[in-house]
Amino acid sequence: MLVLGLFGVYAFVVSIQNANYYYDPYLSPFYSPCLTTGCVHPTFPIIGDWYNLSPAFLIVGSPLAFRVTCYYYRRSYYRAFFWSPPACTVPDARAKYSGETRFPFNLQNLHRYALYLAIPVLAILWFDAIGAFSFDGRFGVGLGSLIMIANVVLLSGYTFGCHAARYLVGGYLDSFHGKSLRFRLWSWANQLNARHSRWAWFSLFSVMLTDLYIRLCAMGVITDLRWVS
Ligand code: FES
Repeated sequence: MLVLGLFGVYAFVVSIQNANYYYDPYLSPFYSPCLTTGCVHPTFPIIGDWYNLSPAFLIVGSPLAFRVTCYYYRRSYYRAFFWSPPACTVPDARAKYSGETRFPFNLQNLHRYALYLAIPVLAILWFDAIGAFSFDGRFGVGLGSLIMIANVVLLSGYTFGCHAARYLVGGYLDSFHGKSLRFRLWSWANQLNARHSRWAWFSLFSVMLTDLYIRLCAMGVITDLRWVS
């Protein structure tokens, strides 16, 4: 409850701040893709100057929906926040149990669609992470580059170990006969899925730490270590 709550507060504060999210060539994952012309570092500037709120608000819905509807997080926050149930063999705090059959909890069933939105965002984060090795057009490595790569690796492990991803790549098939590629993808997804809770936590921290690192660099609090050719 404490960690999820702190993450929620941190994400909200940095999203409304609308500053210090870019430190050349690093872009905070909370602001990527940057969709407005007013962005410090626009990725796809498809929204004009009329938009004057934080660009983070335009994209935060996709990763948020993906995390909130994740099967693992559901279990965690149902226990932590709703005491439904507080623990194994302990009765629910509420006498009546309706599961996920009523609004808004029936929206949890849209998780697979949240995955379809999360995959393109992940692809853009990979693009950002690779771009983090380009310093004024020259190849280089900064501590921020390594942090951004670690972040997308962890996010990929979390995304492709998703139950819906496992289903998508082959879990829906009755037989893998003659479908060796599908079988291989499904096996990889299974391996990631077996540790889904760890990917979920590590990627949650990595998003926060990546933003924090870029933010502190942009504010001049710390200096990025760099090895540029
Ligand atoms: S089940 Fe966790 S991300 Fe899909």
